[in-house]
Amino acid sequence: MKFVALFALFAATACAAVSVKKSDYGKMPDGQAVTLFTVTNATGTEARIITYGGVLVSLKTPDRKGALGDVVLGHDSLADYMADGGTYFGALIGRYANRIGKAQFVLDGKTYKLPVNNGPNSLHGGNKGFDKRNWSGKEVPGGVELSLLSKDGDEGYPGNLKVVVTYTLTEDNRLRVHYTATTDKPTVVNMSNHSYWNLKGDGDGTSNILGQLLTINADKYSPVDAGLIPLGEPQPVAGTPFDFRKATTPGARINQANEQLKLGKGYDHNWVLNRTGTGLELAAKVEETTSGRILEVYTDQPAVQFYTGNFLDGSVKGKGGKPALQRSALCLETQHSPDSPNKPTYPSTVLRPGSTYDTTTEFRFSAK
Ligand code: BGC
Repeated sequence: MKFVALFALFAATACAAVSVKKSDYGKMPDGQAVTLFTVTNATGTEARIITYGGVLVSLKTPDRKGALGDVVLGHDSLADYMADGGTYFGALIGRYANRIGKAQFVLDGKTYKLPVNNGPNSLHGGNKGFDKRNWSGKEVPGGVELSLLSKDGDEGYPGNLKVVVTYTLTEDNRLRVHYTATTDKPTVVNMSNHSYWNLKGDGDGTSNILGQLLTINADKYSPVDAGLIPLGEPQPVAGTPFDFRKATTPGARINQANEQLKLGKGYDHNWVLNRTGTGLELAAKVEETTSGRILEVYTDQPAVQFYTGNFLDGSVKGKGGKPALQRSALCLETQHSPDSPNKPTYPSTVLRPGSTYDTTTEFRFSAK
């Protein structure tokens, strides 16, 4: 008992300087209220998260001189988030982030059909994935806890799935995203956060990320077909434009005559991470040398989708009403590989009753 009380005191003290404020963000057309949580630490780092889609709407982090800059793309209002045709700016993605081939999978001998919303495939949980749901939100020490119930049959997926995602900010500028889910029938789960990062601090999407230094801790990536479904077993990155084991800019090779880069219209591929254990390990690192900002992505997930905003064509308005331009940000979506439910040799994404889906990704910010 004493130990528990001491631990609670320690936890409360550790988060004491991280403040959480709640305010109204607007109402959905059906009357549902959307809440904004503003989480701030002593260095001034500020994360703003809304219950609609669990979207990280802004994240201000210090540059090497301490000046704050917004490092994520997004919109100015709830109406703009709701009208967005498919950027998934900052949102929580589920039940299945990324693609499931031919929009179907077989589990325990039964075929489940999913919404076809990306060529012949199903992308990011279907037509009304978790990014388009208004989550329940409540303050927790250092952040916000979001929860939702995805009912049996939701977007074609079996089982009532109870999902809880917690965003917390630490004093040392880590934004931690912790996901849990439980089900009452076997199902598949693969969640992610779809933030578009631009460490220059241009959350309005006006500068590009081609010159930012990227490292991906992976010896292998998954070549894809024309619908961006992995062809089979992951292949070595060595000798290809997909080798980011040493810090390299995306711009250095993005326009090379490479079949895979053509299919993705740039980078839109899945890297299988080099892992040594089961805990948080480095997946990727981005360094923007003019501001000095550095982002390190740590995760317990087996893979990461690196996407260079290829489909942003200026038609979607971002912050300040400015058009979000192609390659104005990059996504590093930690996850299981695409189409895992149809790829028996990939790590399993099946969740069964009695087990808990439990995964953490940390976005660690610094400047030098
Ligand atoms: C996918 C892209 C897609 C983007 C926005 C990424 O996760 O890999 O192909 O365009 O999400 O939908």
